[in-house]
Amino acid sequence: MIPMTNKHIVLGVTGGIAAYKSAETVRRLRDAGAEVRVVMTRAATEFITPLTMQAVSGHPVHRQLVDTQAESGMDHIELARWADGVLVAPASANFIAKLAQGIADDLLSTLCLATEAPVAVAPSMNRQMWTSPATQSNLSTLQNNGIRLFGPASGAQACGETGPGRMLEAEELAALTAAMFETGELAGLRVLVTAGPTWEPIDPVRIITNRSSGKMGYAVATAAMEAGARVTLVTGPTALTPPERVDCIRVMTAQEMFDAVQQHITSAQIFVGAAAVADYRPAHAASGKIKRTADSLSLNLVRTPDILASVSALDPAPLVVGFAAETSDLELNATAKLRAKRADLIAANIVGQPGSGFEADENRLVLIDERGTLALPLLSKAAAARELIHHIAVLYHAKNSAENSRLAHRQ
Ligand code: PMT
Repeated sequence: MIPMTNKHIVLGVTGGIAAYKSAETVRRLRDAGAEVRVVMTRAATEFITPLTMQAVSGHPVHRQLVDTQAESGMDHIELARWADGVLVAPASANFIAKLAQGIADDLLSTLCLATEAPVAVAPSMNRQMWTSPATQSNLSTLQNNGIRLFGPASGAQACGETGPGRMLEAEELAALTAAMFETGELAGLRVLVTAGPTWEPIDPVRIITNRSSGKMGYAVATAAMEAGARVTLVTGPTALTPPERVDCIRVMTAQEMFDAVQQHITSAQIFVGAAAVADYRPAHAASGKIKRTADSLSLNLVRTPDILASVSALDPAPLVVGFAAETSDLELNATAKLRAKRADLIAANIVGQPGSGFEADENRLVLIDERGTLALPLLSKAAAARELIHHIAVLYHAKNSAENSRLAHRQ
């Protein structure tokens, strides 16, 4: 199965006999590496206990739209933002009808409306209910609204009848959930991503660095991999585990990052510079620990190589995507960087404020290229990275087809 390492999955459980399979579904999702939070409707608790779901997921179950006692303090908006994907399994005929109509009268239906993450439903019902015109028309509404349909299977039903309406097995649901994240937009392409900070040594025990955690760059590498690309991640020191199926090269200094990028860039069609590379480094790192004897100390700093600009200068150059970390005048400064570094696209973000930018789990990106500006809302870094990769794929394919038709005209 495709891994879902660190993916945040909300499993919604509604009232149906197949709810007995929900505990197994949580286990299969977790086996694939996902973090799972369970949301149960009132009817679901008649079929399986919240305690069982809490035990298998390792987290308290969310049940009420307004729950002042909730241990995690997450409300429907927080859960909707936390989710990378929502799977409702089993999804009853009643829940499918509510979702088709946009009725939001409990936690699960509300969060399905509020989330930007992909939503899938795994129907479970009697065959007559499944084939009824009302259910079928609700299902086409859901599919038109972009909601995925997992199953149902056909076979023996709890009511004693045989036919379509059986919920898929846990293993199949986990595999389909994992596949939700695979877009194929960058299939066959190689993407090189930089991430994290650099460490510039002052002496053997001290460094100049910055607040980058690597979360944004790692999310970009994951999203590119899920879009079908072969990804190389050149990362400065971070506490993160590199995404599976990504070739990871660990470096420490800006010079080492520059060297690694130069070595691997020629095979890549797309370069994304999400690393917070030090702009200056000490001219000389002392060989021994500098003693605390003088009243003051000056460090002579020299400029580091500009990795992004060096990639743009290649001939042929890949599609070059830079980031811009700014504390003010975001669009003005980022547009200046787009031109100065001759990048194809800049993902700009405000830094130095809590809740986005450095270290946070969420980010607000503004995508700027020569065609215009797209301001994304505050999103989890995983969701922001997916939006960025989608934008990059559109840009890459547009640039390539323009290039192909130019070459065709010359022949
Ligand atoms: O890692 P996180 O905690 O998740 O935080 C994410 C982030 C804030 C680090 C990320 O979103 C981000 O903004 N990364 C770029 C940070 C940065 O160095 O921005 P800059 O505006 O200083 O640099 C502009 C671009 O030039 C960047 O693409 C940078 O990688 C590149 N650069 C900078 C200096 C240098 N010597 N070589 C470069 O290639």
